[in-house]
Amino acid sequence: GERKSKHFALASSLCNTDNMVSITVTLYTLFEKAINEAYPDVTDPPIIIAPSNNSKFGDYQCNSALPLCKLLSSTNLEGKQRILPKDVAEKIVSKVSSSPLIEKLEVAAAGFINICLKHEFAQIVLKNILKNNKICAPPIIRKRKVIVDFSSPNVAKEMHVGHLRSTIIGDSICRLLEFLGHNVLRLNHIGDWGTQFGMLIAHLEDKFPNYSTESPPISDLQSFYKESKIRFDNDEEFKKRAYANVVKLQACEPKIIQAWKLICDVSKQEFQSIYDRLNVNLIERGESYYQKHMENLVKDLETKQFLEEDDGRKIMWGENKNGIPLTVIKRDGGFTYDTSDLAALKQRIMEEGAEWIIYVTDGGQATHFQTIISCAKRAKIVLSCHRVDHVGFGVVLGEDKKKFKTRSGDTVKLSDLLDEGLKRAEQKLKEKERDKVLTEREFNLAKESIAYGCIKYADLCHNRNHEYVFSFDKMLEDKGNTAVYLLYALTRIRSIARMANITRDQIKETVDVTPISLDHPKEWQLAKVILKFPDIVMKIAKDLCLHSLCEFCYEIACTFTEFYDNCYCVEKNQTGEIVKVNMGRILLTEATAMMLEKCLTLLGLNSVEKM
Ligand code: ARG
Repeated sequence: GERKSKHFALASSLCNTDNMVSITVTLYTLFEKAINEAYPDVTDPPIIIAPSNNSKFGDYQCNSALPLCKLLSSTNLEGKQRILPKDVAEKIVSKVSSSPLIEKLEVAAAGFINICLKHEFAQIVLKNILKNNKICAPPIIRKRKVIVDFSSPNVAKEMHVGHLRSTIIGDSICRLLEFLGHNVLRLNHIGDWGTQFGMLIAHLEDKFPNYSTESPPISDLQSFYKESKIRFDNDEEFKKRAYANVVKLQACEPKIIQAWKLICDVSKQEFQSIYDRLNVNLIERGESYYQKHMENLVKDLETKQFLEEDDGRKIMWGENKNGIPLTVIKRDGGFTYDTSDLAALKQRIMEEGAEWIIYVTDGGQATHFQTIISCAKRAKIVLSCHRVDHVGFGVVLGEDKKKFKTRSGDTVKLSDLLDEGLKRAEQKLKEKERDKVLTEREFNLAKESIAYGCIKYADLCHNRNHEYVFSFDKMLEDKGNTAVYLLYALTRIRSIARMANITRDQIKETVDVTPISLDHPKEWQLAKVILKFPDIVMKIAKDLCLHSLCEFCYEIACTFTEFYDNCYCVEKNQTGEIVKVNMGRILLTEATAMMLEKCLTLLGLNSVEKM
């Protein structure tokens, strides 16, 4: 079934101009068929397809012959005749069916099969991009309902750089999956429920007794939290009242709920201003949403005898009963972070119909999610048709390689961090005297694009599993794999057609009559990079590692520079008048700009016309 559907997706994508074809998948399928035909007795033969890193060896390579040869030699002991990789390769090549992708196949001495792609194929793909005026995704086998749980800060506590990382990575994952055509629900699992509200409400009752009629001035929830914590730790009567409030809150007593809402709203407004600045969309659905679900879940787990008594607590073990169990009910009868996550997972699968769930948090929570998933499997909430990922990430460090803090040792306020980014971006633009060429509006757009873009990009371009050093100096460098370099590269590429006075409409008209120029090696090299896009996004859909998309952006920009340095797009005479426009190259330039812009958009970066 799997193989058939793959063939089907491939066949339909080749005639459907709206999808971009994955070269690797196409070649894989072709060679898989050829190898199975050539060696029907070998089960699971190695199918190895990769882009060639030297044009001497074609555009792609199939490197299956060597391992296949070893496999054949080891099983074919009595027939003493030596098998050569080269012969294996020849045999494979003889079985490869003709394809609109392949110009020719060559067998190199060591048995490598060099694959040369057809230029016409690349021309069709690039032409489609320009005609559709958009980059289309590779086809997916099945559209899935995906829930991405990300950002998720906690009420009355500071939203910190860890939450910023989750916000940036989560948003980009959503953008990518939405682009692929999945049905994505972006959930902000805010920490808005739990015992801390008991003391916050008790403190609110004392400080602002008429909070139900007059909204209390508690914009600084941080210190409000600290004050109440001190009282909680030192005042027995206060502590008792705090606990009583937790019970009342969970019973949804109106007055207490009102106080709770007041406190939550203060935090939520603050969070929202960060999301607005970063242009991130999220649906708020905090832990509190699952109160009823937790009660029902616990009843269900009790009946099914999944819960075990452990020193007054009720715990649940995962599938193999190893590692650590979940604490489902605390000694005082309350629920925990574990309870809400298990209940939320069940709700998401059973009620939302989610088929794929992704959690984006720091790597420190990996064990928590492993245990949640394991228990959910044991309770038959998560079945084999579901995919559940924990997308972990490393801690953010300061330039001193220690945990990212302000000079005085406090957690950095995100709004301050974004402000600092704006200030630094402004300085950078002024250093380059951009304020003298841009209008005020253009300048401000460029400033925001750079500031938020560089913060996002610096995060995304590192392997998310590693810790990363937050440094404005580094992220604002205009050379190397940085947002500034790429945003600037894009405006430069875009300006080529503009400077030659070629309009969007002209490009559209030209596409049908002028072939995209691919004969020069640098043109071909650039085209091949663009054609890798489907493979890049499909890989990310598997491993959810966005740095490959950043590397791809950088590869586009660098390859473009090489092309532009070697190939005239516009020729001018000594007085600077345009004497010749190479339209075949302008078309390639436009397709490059569209591809780079698409990738930056998937990363959550906002490109500008001028900077
Ligand atoms: N509020 C948590 C924190 O700040 C993150 C929540 C992540 N999502 C989840 N479903 N547990 O660490």
